[in-house]
Amino acid sequence: MDSFSIKGGVPLHGEVTISGSKNAALPILAATLLTDEPCVLRRVPDLSDTRFMVQILKSLGASATFENGTVTVHAKKITGFADYDLVRKMRGSICIAGPLLGRLRKARISLPGGCIIGARPINLHLKGFQALGAKIKIDGGYVDAVAKKLIGAVTFLGGRAGSTVLGTANVMMAATLADGVTVIESAACEPEVVDLANFLIAMGAQISGAGSPTITITGVAKLHGAEHEVIPDRIEAITFAAAAAATNGEITIKGARPDHFRAVIDKLNEANVLVERSGANLVVKRKGKLKSVDVTTMPYSGFPTDAQAQLMSLLTLAPGISIITERIFESRFMHVSELTRLGADIEIEGPSAIVKGGKPLSGAPVMASDLRASAALIIAGLAATGTTQVNRIYHLDRGYEQMDVKLKQLGARIQRVEE
Ligand code: EPU
Repeated sequence: MDSFSIKGGVPLHGEVTISGSKNAALPILAATLLTDEPCVLRRVPDLSDTRFMVQILKSLGASATFENGTVTVHAKKITGFADYDLVRKMRGSICIAGPLLGRLRKARISLPGGCIIGARPINLHLKGFQALGAKIKIDGGYVDAVAKKLIGAVTFLGGRAGSTVLGTANVMMAATLADGVTVIESAACEPEVVDLANFLIAMGAQISGAGSPTITITGVAKLHGAEHEVIPDRIEAITFAAAAAATNGEITIKGARPDHFRAVIDKLNEANVLVERSGANLVVKRKGKLKSVDVTTMPYSGFPTDAQAQLMSLLTLAPGISIITERIFESRFMHVSELTRLGADIEIEGPSAIVKGGKPLSGAPVMASDLRASAALIIAGLAATGTTQVNRIYHLDRGYEQMDVKLKQLGARIQRVEE
């Protein structure tokens, strides 16, 4: 298992270019299953998760290539079965269910189960499929979804923590090939859902309202092949912004869409971090001493759960008390105990982490537990004095394209240690 060795204390300076969005690319790759014609996707980030999704498409019968950020998929003839090993390794693979149901009227998919950040139920995905007329059976750890006909319907997909991103994606994809009109109420408004809708529209789907809580899909008989460029990864941009602020550096972020992370920019400003436009780029730097802020994660357009850990690392450096409340996933604080190993003072009280910031961080060996926790530990390691060894970096490789290379270009002293 590879690790990163970071010699901290170097302010980041220079330019970084943001890659395509992982969480937009995954459902868009799955959507290529909706047509028997070839599709071409550009700016697909080269990550273990996207490579794995391409492998899933192949295992379902599609032919696919992945070169220099371009994925070509031709799902001429496919089967509708995804086994435990495919779904277990990556929860995001559940988003093949909607396209399979839409195209084949049947899907047999292993239930994903929970993961380190909390339970990952799919009840809302199934509720939407049922509304379209699918019969759902759960047996032996698998979901069997079968529909003689898919018929448009009104379905409400709000849950305990609000909307569901992949649930909205799944139901929207299945509904593109249903008879009649489907209305998804309490739909997820994330930019990744909008990007998927844009790709589906390019394939011939009739969709309106994506980006709002009500999405209307008028089913069509067939979708055709299409080309699409994936949106930039807002979470990657936020991660680099937090790293620049944590090290008291100044970086230029190229290719990001600040309109996709206004809530984070707002919090960074409150913490005394400037995020300013400079032509098509963003410049990030501190505008003075860091200030403590309170943050609560929410569905879009609120503060994203995927940026919670990275902001926490930054706030450990801000004198005063910051309260960070996680409302989307119940156990997404695995980074806390590792951050305390670096000297951070953080206590967990129910869904909140109380960060008593301003204490100096010093390097130590730490263990990454999930993708965003890994990013948070790297940010803390970059800001700490001495050497931080971040172990189990395979979590990071699932979702960040060449993070070590990009950080090195910004002046960080970071080495991948291969095992
Ligand atoms: N939920 C339900 N029932 C469902 C589905 C979800 O109760 O059927 C609950 C979840 O338990 C959670 C909340 O709804 O409390 C939101 O979960 P959501 O379904 O929106 O999450 P997801 O679609 O499975 C995507 C991202 C996650 C990101 C979340 C929230 C992908 C591949 N994954 O997951 O990304 O945290 O949305 O924004 O798009 C990451 O990139 O690190 C990551 C975990």
